[in-house]
Amino acid sequence: MNREIVVTGGSAGIGYAIAAAFVREGDRVTVTGRRESVLTEAAALLGARAVSFDAGDPEAVEAACAQLPDRVDVLVNNAGGNTDFEREDGADLKALETAWLANLRANLFTAALVTAGLRDRLADQGRVVTIGSIAARTGAGSYGWSKAALELWNAEVAREFGPRGITANIVAPGLVVDTEFFHGKLTAERQETLIGNTMTKRAGRPEDIAEVVRFLASPEAGHVTGQVLHVNGGAYVSRG
Ligand SMILES: NC(=O)c1ccc[n+]([C@@H]2O[C@H](COP(=O)([O-])OP(=O)(O)OC[C@H]3O[C@@H](n4cnc5c(N)ncnc54)[C@H](OP(=O)(O)O)[C@@H]3O)[C@@H](O)[C@H]2O)c1
Repeated sequence: MNREIVVTGGSAGIGYAIAAAFVREGDRVTVTGRRESVLTEAAALLGARAVSFDAGDPEAVEAACAQLPDRVDVLVNNAGGNTDFEREDGADLKALETAWLANLRANLFTAALVTAGLRDRLADQGRVVTIGSIAARTGAGSYGWSKAALELWNAEVAREFGPRGITANIVAPGLVVDTEFFHGKLTAERQETLIGNTMTKRAGRPEDIAEVVRFLASPEAGHVTGQVLHVNGGAYVSRG
Protein backbone atom coordinates (compact mmCIF):
# COMPACT_ATOMS: atom_id res chain seq x y z
CA MET A 1 0.00 0.00 0.00
CA ASN A 2 3.08 2.22 0.07
CA ARG A 3 2.52 3.52 3.62
CA GLU A 4 5.25 4.37 6.17
CA ILE A 5 4.88 2.01 9.11
CA VAL A 6 6.75 2.02 12.43
CA VAL A 7 6.52 -1.11 14.61
CA THR A 8 8.20 -0.80 18.02
CA GLY A 9 9.53 -4.14 19.25
CA GLY A 10 9.37 -5.47 15.70
CA SER A 11 12.38 -7.73 16.14
CA ALA A 12 10.60 -10.67 17.78
CA GLY A 13 7.29 -12.36 18.56
CA ILE A 14 4.10 -10.44 17.89
CA GLY A 15 5.87 -7.32 16.60
CA TYR A 16 7.78 -9.36 14.03
CA ALA A 17 4.52 -10.90 12.73
CA ILE A 18 2.93 -7.44 12.56
CA ALA A 19 5.89 -6.06 10.61
CA ALA A 20 5.77 -9.05 8.24
CA ALA A 21 2.06 -8.45 7.57
CA PHE A 22 2.76 -4.84 6.52
CA VAL A 23 5.75 -5.84 4.38
CA ARG A 24 3.43 -8.28 2.57
CA GLU A 25 1.02 -5.36 1.93
CA GLY A 26 3.82 -3.51 0.12
CA ASP A 27 4.38 -0.90 2.84
CA ARG A 28 7.73 0.56 3.95
CA VAL A 29 8.33 -0.76 7.47
CA THR A 30 10.70 0.41 10.21
CA VAL A 31 11.19 -1.97 13.12
CA THR A 32 12.70 -1.04 16.49
CA GLY A 33 14.10 -2.85 19.52
CA ARG A 34 16.86 -2.60 22.10
CA ARG A 35 19.11 -5.55 21.15
CA GLU A 36 20.86 -4.29 18.05
CA SER A 37 22.02 -7.66 16.66
CA VAL A 38 18.59 -9.28 17.08
CA LEU A 39 16.97 -6.25 15.47
CA THR A 40 19.37 -6.06 12.52
CA GLU A 41 18.90 -9.76 11.77
CA ALA A 42 15.10 -9.49 11.97
CA ALA A 43 15.03 -6.39 9.77
CA ALA A 44 17.14 -8.13 7.12
CA LEU A 45 14.80 -11.14 7.11
CA LEU A 46 11.76 -8.86 6.90
CA GLY A 47 13.14 -6.44 4.33
CA ALA A 48 12.53 -3.60 6.81
CA ARG A 49 14.58 -0.70 8.19
CA ALA A 50 15.98 -1.02 11.71
CA VAL A 51 16.31 1.71 14.33
CA SER A 52 17.59 0.52 17.70
CA PHE A 53 16.55 2.30 20.91
CA ASP A 54 14.87 1.78 24.28
CA ALA A 55 11.31 3.02 23.81
CA GLY A 56 10.91 3.48 27.57
CA ASP A 57 13.74 6.01 27.82
CA PRO A 58 12.75 9.59 26.89
CA GLU A 59 16.26 10.64 25.86
CA ALA A 60 16.70 7.54 23.69
CA VAL A 61 13.30 8.12 22.04
CA GLU A 62 14.13 11.76 21.36
CA ALA A 63 17.46 10.82 19.76
CA ALA A 64 15.90 7.98 17.73
CA CYS A 65 13.21 10.23 16.26
CA ALA A 66 15.85 11.73 13.97
CA GLN A 67 16.21 8.31 12.31
CA LEU A 68 12.49 7.55 12.09
CA PRO A 69 10.48 8.49 8.96
CA ASP A 70 9.43 12.14 8.47
CA ARG A 71 5.85 11.01 7.85
CA VAL A 72 4.28 8.06 9.67
CA ASP A 73 1.03 6.56 8.38
CA VAL A 74 0.80 3.76 10.93
CA LEU A 75 2.46 3.59 14.34
CA VAL A 76 2.26 0.24 16.12
CA ASN A 77 3.21 0.52 19.79
CA ASN A 78 4.03 -3.12 20.38
CA ALA A 79 7.21 -2.93 22.54
CA GLY A 80 6.54 -4.18 26.04
CA GLY A 81 6.46 -7.19 28.30
CA ASN A 82 6.09 -8.26 31.91
CA THR A 83 9.27 -7.11 33.66
CA ASP A 84 8.35 -9.24 36.69
CA PHE A 85 9.71 -12.25 34.74
CA GLU A 86 13.17 -10.65 34.89
CA ARG A 87 13.28 -9.55 38.53
CA GLU A 88 14.33 -11.12 41.81
CA ASP A 89 11.55 -11.37 44.36
CA GLY A 90 11.75 -8.74 47.04
CA ALA A 91 9.07 -7.82 49.51
CA ASP A 92 10.37 -4.48 50.77
CA LEU A 93 8.67 -1.32 49.60
CA LYS A 94 11.66 -0.05 47.62
CA ALA A 95 11.73 -3.33 45.66
CA LEU A 96 8.00 -3.05 44.99
CA GLU A 97 8.35 0.53 43.78
CA THR A 98 11.20 -0.51 41.47
CA ALA A 99 9.16 -3.43 40.09
CA TRP A 100 6.02 -1.37 39.50
CA LEU A 101 7.94 1.45 37.81
CA ALA A 102 9.70 -1.10 35.58
CA ASN A 103 6.36 -2.41 34.28
CA LEU A 104 4.99 1.11 33.81
CA ARG A 105 8.11 2.09 31.89
CA ALA A 106 8.03 -1.08 29.77
CA ASN A 107 4.36 -0.90 28.83
CA LEU A 108 2.90 2.59 29.35
CA PHE A 109 5.90 4.87 28.86
CA THR A 110 7.06 3.02 25.73
CA ALA A 111 3.79 3.73 23.91
CA ALA A 112 3.29 7.23 25.34
CA LEU A 113 6.85 8.40 24.60
CA VAL A 114 7.05 7.11 21.02
CA THR A 115 3.56 8.45 20.21
CA ALA A 116 4.46 11.86 21.67
CA GLY A 117 7.78 11.86 19.81
CA LEU A 118 6.05 11.18 16.49
CA ARG A 119 2.80 13.11 17.05
CA ASP A 120 3.60 15.89 14.55
CA ARG A 121 4.64 13.35 11.91
CA LEU A 122 1.49 11.26 12.04
CA ALA A 123 -0.26 11.67 8.71
CA ASP A 124 -3.90 12.77 8.57
CA GLN A 125 -6.06 9.60 8.36
CA GLY A 126 -3.15 7.82 10.09
CA ARG A 127 -3.39 4.99 12.58
CA VAL A 128 -2.03 4.33 16.06
CA VAL A 129 -2.39 0.73 17.22
CA THR A 130 -1.09 -0.24 20.65
CA ILE A 131 -0.68 -3.76 22.02
CA GLY A 132 -2.35 -4.12 25.41
CA SER A 133 -3.13 -7.37 27.21
CA ILE A 134 -5.85 -9.54 28.67
CA ALA A 135 -3.97 -8.84 31.91
CA ALA A 136 -5.45 -5.32 31.94
CA ARG A 137 -8.81 -6.96 32.72
CA THR A 138 -7.77 -10.07 34.62
CA GLY A 139 -5.01 -8.86 36.94
CA ALA A 140 -1.35 -10.01 36.83
CA GLY A 141 -0.04 -7.35 39.24
CA SER A 142 1.82 -4.29 38.02
CA TYR A 143 1.99 -5.70 34.47
CA GLY A 144 -1.82 -5.76 34.35
CA TRP A 145 -2.05 -2.31 35.93
CA SER A 146 0.34 -0.87 33.35
CA LYS A 147 -1.70 -2.37 30.49
CA ALA A 148 -4.92 -1.05 32.12
CA ALA A 149 -3.39 2.44 32.22
CA LEU A 150 -2.61 2.06 28.52
CA GLU A 151 -6.33 1.68 27.78
CA LEU A 152 -7.11 5.07 29.40
CA TRP A 153 -4.13 6.68 27.69
CA ASN A 154 -5.36 5.33 24.34
CA ALA A 155 -8.78 6.95 24.83
CA GLU A 156 -7.06 10.33 25.24
CA VAL A 157 -4.94 9.80 22.13
CA ALA A 158 -8.06 8.87 20.13
CA ARG A 159 -9.81 12.04 21.31
CA GLU A 160 -6.84 14.28 20.52
CA PHE A 161 -6.16 12.86 17.04
CA GLY A 162 -9.77 12.13 16.01
CA PRO A 163 -10.42 15.46 14.24
CA ARG A 164 -7.51 14.64 11.88
CA GLY A 165 -9.05 11.29 10.94
CA ILE A 166 -6.36 9.48 12.94
CA THR A 167 -7.62 6.49 14.91
CA ALA A 168 -6.09 5.01 18.07
CA ASN A 169 -6.97 1.54 19.28
CA ILE A 170 -5.66 -1.17 21.58
CA VAL A 171 -5.35 -4.82 20.55
CA ALA A 172 -5.35 -6.92 23.74
CA PRO A 173 -3.96 -10.45 23.27
CA GLY A 174 -4.47 -13.39 25.57
CA LEU A 175 -1.80 -16.12 25.63
CA VAL A 176 0.38 -15.93 22.51
CA VAL A 177 3.03 -18.61 22.02
CA ASP A 178 6.15 -18.49 19.80
CA THR A 179 7.28 -15.28 21.51
CA GLU A 180 9.99 -14.44 24.05
CA PHE A 181 7.37 -12.98 26.41
CA PHE A 182 7.60 -15.57 29.19
CA HIS A 183 11.43 -15.74 29.26
CA GLY A 184 11.16 -19.54 29.38
CA LYS A 185 9.11 -19.39 32.61
CA LEU A 186 5.76 -20.59 31.29
CA THR A 187 5.26 -24.12 32.67
CA ALA A 188 3.41 -26.74 30.63
CA GLU A 189 0.79 -26.82 33.40
CA ARG A 190 0.16 -23.08 33.29
CA GLN A 191 -0.01 -23.15 29.48
CA GLU A 192 -2.61 -25.94 29.68
CA THR A 193 -4.66 -23.86 32.14
CA LEU A 194 -4.53 -20.77 29.90
CA ILE A 195 -5.53 -22.80 26.85
CA GLY A 196 -8.30 -24.42 28.90
CA ASN A 197 -9.66 -20.91 29.67
CA THR A 198 -10.22 -20.25 25.94
CA MET A 199 -13.34 -21.16 23.97
CA THR A 200 -11.20 -22.14 20.98
CA LYS A 201 -9.02 -24.52 23.06
CA ARG A 202 -5.78 -23.28 21.55
CA ALA A 203 -3.08 -20.74 22.25
CA GLY A 204 -2.89 -17.54 20.25
CA ARG A 205 -0.24 -17.15 17.55
CA PRO A 206 1.53 -13.91 16.61
CA GLU A 207 -0.35 -13.94 13.27
CA ASP A 208 -3.72 -13.86 15.11
CA ILE A 209 -2.71 -10.49 16.54
CA ALA A 210 -1.06 -9.23 13.35
CA GLU A 211 -4.22 -9.73 11.30
CA VAL A 212 -6.31 -7.64 13.71
CA VAL A 213 -3.67 -4.90 13.68
CA ARG A 214 -3.68 -5.01 9.88
CA PHE A 215 -7.46 -4.45 9.86
CA LEU A 216 -7.30 -1.57 12.35
CA ALA A 217 -4.59 0.05 10.22
CA SER A 218 -6.66 -0.24 7.04
CA PRO A 219 -8.59 2.65 5.44
CA GLU A 220 -11.79 0.61 6.03
CA ALA A 221 -11.37 0.85 9.83
CA GLY A 222 -11.55 4.66 9.89
CA HIS A 223 -14.58 4.81 12.22
CA VAL A 224 -13.16 2.41 14.83
CA THR A 225 -11.32 4.46 17.44
CA GLY A 226 -10.74 4.65 21.19
CA GLN A 227 -11.49 0.92 21.43
CA VAL A 228 -9.94 -2.18 22.95
CA LEU A 229 -10.14 -5.25 20.70
CA HIS A 230 -9.65 -8.50 22.59
CA VAL A 231 -7.93 -11.35 20.75
CA ASN A 232 -7.89 -14.20 23.23
CA GLY A 233 -10.02 -17.09 21.93
CA GLY A 234 -12.78 -16.12 24.35
CA ALA A 235 -10.63 -16.47 27.49
CA TYR A 236 -11.96 -13.07 28.55
CA VAL A 237 -15.32 -11.84 27.27
CA SER A 238 -15.54 -8.06 26.97
CA ARG A 239 -18.90 -6.45 27.75
CA GLY A 240 -17.89 -2.86 27.19
N1 LIG B 1 3.04 -13.22 24.30
C1 LIG B 1 1.94 -13.05 25.02
O1 LIG B 1 1.35 -14.03 25.54
C2 LIG B 1 1.35 -11.66 25.19
C3 LIG B 1 0.07 -11.56 25.75
C4 LIG B 1 -0.50 -10.32 25.93
C5 LIG B 1 0.18 -9.18 25.53
N2 LIG B 1 1.43 -9.28 25.00
C6 LIG B 1 2.11 -8.03 24.60
O2 LIG B 1 2.52 -8.14 23.26
C7 LIG B 1 3.62 -7.27 23.01
C8 LIG B 1 4.73 -8.04 22.29
O3 LIG B 1 5.19 -9.08 23.15
P1 LIG B 1 5.70 -10.48 22.62
O4 LIG B 1 4.87 -11.51 23.25
O5 LIG B 1 5.87 -10.48 21.16
O6 LIG B 1 7.11 -10.53 23.39
P2 LIG B 1 8.61 -10.67 22.82
O7 LIG B 1 8.71 -11.86 21.92
O8 LIG B 1 9.44 -10.60 24.05
O9 LIG B 1 8.85 -9.36 21.94
C9 LIG B 1 8.97 -8.08 22.51
C10 LIG B 1 9.58 -7.16 21.50
O10 LIG B 1 9.60 -5.83 22.04
C11 LIG B 1 10.96 -5.35 22.11
N3 LIG B 1 11.02 -4.50 23.30
C12 LIG B 1 10.67 -4.81 24.56
N4 LIG B 1 10.85 -3.76 25.36
C13 LIG B 1 11.33 -2.75 24.59
C14 LIG B 1 11.72 -1.41 24.84
N5 LIG B 1 11.69 -0.88 26.08
N6 LIG B 1 12.14 -0.66 23.81
C15 LIG B 1 12.21 -1.18 22.56
N7 LIG B 1 11.85 -2.44 22.25
C16 LIG B 1 11.42 -3.21 23.28
C17 LIG B 1 11.81 -6.63 22.15
O11 LIG B 1 13.12 -6.44 21.68
P3 LIG B 1 14.32 -6.07 22.70
O12 LIG B 1 14.18 -6.96 23.90
O13 LIG B 1 15.56 -6.32 21.91
O14 LIG B 1 14.12 -4.64 23.04
C18 LIG B 1 11.02 -7.50 21.17
O15 LIG B 1 11.28 -7.09 19.85
C19 LIG B 1 4.02 -6.72 24.39
O16 LIG B 1 3.49 -5.42 24.55
C20 LIG B 1 3.37 -7.69 25.37
O17 LIG B 1 3.11 -7.09 26.62
C21 LIG B 1 2.03 -10.50 24.83
